[in-house]
Amino acid sequence: MQDLTIAIVGATGAVGAECIRVIEQRHPKLRHIKLLASARSAGKRITVNGRELVVEETTEKSFRDVDIAFVSVTTEFSRQMCPIAAAAGAVVIDDSSVFRMEPTVPLVVPEVNGADVEWHQGIIAIPNCSTTPVVMAGHPLHQVNPIRRITAATYQSVSGAGASAMAELREQSRAMLDGGQPSPKALPNQIAFNVIPRIDSFLPSGYTREEQKMFDETRKIMHAPGLAVSSTCVRVPVYISHSAALHLEFERPMSPEEARELLGKMPGIKVLDDPANGEYPMPWDVAGTDEVFVGRIRKDQSHPNGLVIWVVSDNLRKGAALNSIQIAEELVNRNCLKPQPSHPASDALYNNSYQSPAGGEQGETFEADLAFFKANREQFLKDYLGKWIAVINQTVVDSDAEFDTLARRVYAKHGYKAILITKVEAEPGVVSVPSRRLSGR
Ligand SMILES: NC(=O)c1ccc[n+]([C@@H]2O[C@H](COP(=O)([O-])OP(=O)(O)OC[C@H]3O[C@@H](n4cnc5c(N)ncnc54)[C@H](OP(=O)(O)O)[C@@H]3O)[C@@H](O)[C@H]2O)c1
Repeated sequence: MQDLTIAIVGATGAVGAECIRVIEQRHPKLRHIKLLASARSAGKRITVNGRELVVEETTEKSFRDVDIAFVSVTTEFSRQMCPIAAAAGAVVIDDSSVFRMEPTVPLVVPEVNGADVEWHQGIIAIPNCSTTPVVMAGHPLHQVNPIRRITAATYQSVSGAGASAMAELREQSRAMLDGGQPSPKALPNQIAFNVIPRIDSFLPSGYTREEQKMFDETRKIMHAPGLAVSSTCVRVPVYISHSAALHLEFERPMSPEEARELLGKMPGIKVLDDPANGEYPMPWDVAGTDEVFVGRIRKDQSHPNGLVIWVVSDNLRKGAALNSIQIAEELVNRNCLKPQPSHPASDALYNNSYQSPAGGEQGETFEADLAFFKANREQFLKDYLGKWIAVINQTVVDSDAEFDTLARRVYAKHGYKAILITKVEAEPGVVSVPSRRLSGR
């Protein structure tokens, strides 16, 4: 990691500043660092790893020779600049919601689905800061007893809305204590001495975009397309760290003791659960730490298969900067900084989930499928000329849904070696998917 050239785009913002702190803590020898922001901040000086660096305006030319760009800017600027940075050869790790649900963009929390970095095409997204603690706490439990439903009520700090919202809480609190009136700007309503049951805009469903993000992103990261998720996301007058009360409904009952043990073994989780002695996680204590803290673990008395837990994590660190830097470390450790080539048929596999399915069937080798393909070539030319197909266990798969179902079964049972994928053309050519790229379970 220390030999790479990185760019921190949005270096003057709340997440960018935290990104600098995390770099200093985890990679103090990293030397080649570019700090980028808007023209407003150009010329500002910030010390990183003992060297004073000058913030530059972000332009299309900023990404020459950059290996990894950590992008934490506005949604609009992410939309504009990430593809440019990726085209210039940088791997982009983006904090915005713009690319998260794109089929070709991995959405990654390394402790949960680190292997998904392997199929990136130049852009990797991190989840919303309220989703990260949900998947971190849900994942180790889901592995042994599938979660059917998550209901969440969040208590999200103002730093989740950026540096200007932090300033707003401070200014409004001061003004109101002095007998003045609050004037909301960065947030939609008064935040001092109040809570706002609204984060982001409302959708026709009645949910907010923030709540919809938790639904979509949790399913994508946990590879659980059938998982039911419902949340109410609330802004509270707390500076840093998001909290959430999670009601988890499992396939079978799970005891609080078992949950405590599983959570205790999960990297990145810290169990703080001794209510009798006043021990439970709180945002003030958690701010500045790396772990997702879990406490108040108890049976849900309203459901036989239910558990209720309380999670708290620093939204600027694990919710944003730390997660981004862990993704970069994952890319380096897995030696996949360079994007893997993509093609339409294989995308169908990568973008769906590989939950452990019931059953399975005997898997044939890639060679047997290749022989089958060659033996039936005339028929394939007639049926599929110009189309992408996959051959799995000597069965032709030419629709996304079928492809996913079969591949999932074969993969789950055999840790599949390779799947034959080809475009049927007059001149034969075969593309295989190496196992490395099928490891996103
Ligand atoms: N805060 C969180 O907990 C959190 C968690 C996960 C994801 N995110 C996401 O991370 C991103 C940044 O959030 P934040 O909280 O750090 O926001 P912020 O404090 O408002 O900072 C925004 C940064 O973007 C820069 N910027 C804005 N417009 C720009 C432009 N046109 N060109 C170049 N740079 C520009 C700003 O530079 P100037 O200072 O020069 O204006 C600043 O450095 C957002 O997409 C947010 O959704 C945030």
